[in-house]
Amino acid sequence: MKRAKISLIGGGQIGGVLAQLCAQRELGDVVLFDIVEGLPQGKMLDLAEVARIDQFDVDLKGTNSYTDIAGSDIVIVTAGLPRKPGMSRDDLLGINSKIMKQVSEGIKEYAPDAFVIIISNPLDAMVTLCQKVTGFPSERVIGQAGVLDSNRFCSFIAWELGVSVRDVNAMVLGGHGDTMVPIVRYANVNGVPVMEQLVRKYGGDQAKAQEVMDAMVERTKMAGGEVVKLLGNGSAFYSPASSAIAMAEAILRDQKRVLPVCALLKGEFGVDNYYVGVPCVLGSKGVEAIIEFDLNKEEQAMFDNSVKAVKKLIDELPTILPDLAAILNG
Ligand code: APR
Repeated sequence: MKRAKISLIGGGQIGGVLAQLCAQRELGDVVLFDIVEGLPQGKMLDLAEVARIDQFDVDLKGTNSYTDIAGSDIVIVTAGLPRKPGMSRDDLLGINSKIMKQVSEGIKEYAPDAFVIIISNPLDAMVTLCQKVTGFPSERVIGQAGVLDSNRFCSFIAWELGVSVRDVNAMVLGGHGDTMVPIVRYANVNGVPVMEQLVRKYGGDQAKAQEVMDAMVERTKMAGGEVVKLLGNGSAFYSPASSAIAMAEAILRDQKRVLPVCALLKGEFGVDNYYVGVPCVLGSKGVEAIIEFDLNKEEQAMFDNSVKAVKKLIDELPTILPDLAAILNG
């Protein structure tokens, strides 16, 4: 049987980790594309030379030519600049939308049947742009943000409660920016509500428990920036790569996993025609369903605020890319 083909557009920090994870999990043959000559070729040669140690049998190719992504089943995009300390993801809009336009045109021409997972920031705007330029059905063009944000939230809860992160479930919805919405109400450790455990941990002190939860929520929202500040140069790369691989694997292996995905909403959660993070069923058809649930008043207000922030970025796109104004406004 033919192996799946995974193309990675952008061979920087995240692209390199993505390639390694794809190979180690034998998800399929991998093509790493970058505009910098030698970079993707060097990384893939290096990776190919550990196949014996890591025991994988997949073909690895580094390239500067879009023709090599032909026949891809999945394309994962990390092309673009990462932020520097003090920058927000939104500050990357101008530069990364020009890159995303180019990349999307390449995907449209050479991998017209592929599923596309975007990682480049500002995420929600980049996914929107890619879907508009490729014209692919929206269930095939999605963004990685919620898996990472949710995992960060779960990590902070696990560290606070001293339990394995594998037993923590918590979701972060909305846009992948400072307005993201961690859903506290449903956060649980194997079904037991996190808030209840916090109140018990702090001897019934509700206010203290709330204060601790608020701090974890705030840290989740700013978690990407926390890493950026520590690194000094570049942004998180292990965690976005692993998160996108979970999504790619769900599609390639038809797992029907329920993951928070940046998906196009068509009325769900009261939002029409915008890409935002919501729980989705991911399987061989891409986004196979969006799982709706009732947000309470406070959550809905935060969600709406997050959508507003996404809309603001989308509204700026036609000014940055005037040649695409017709497609973007269509
Ligand atoms: N086409 C393809 N690749 C490009 C293009 C382009 N037009 N422009 C830049 N690149 C490549 C760069 O050459 C670089 O190798 O994208 C790669 C980006 O890698 P890094 O700078 O290491 O950035 P990384 O940490 O991987 O993050 C990439 O993901 O999480 C987001 O905010 C982050 O937008 C950033 C993206």
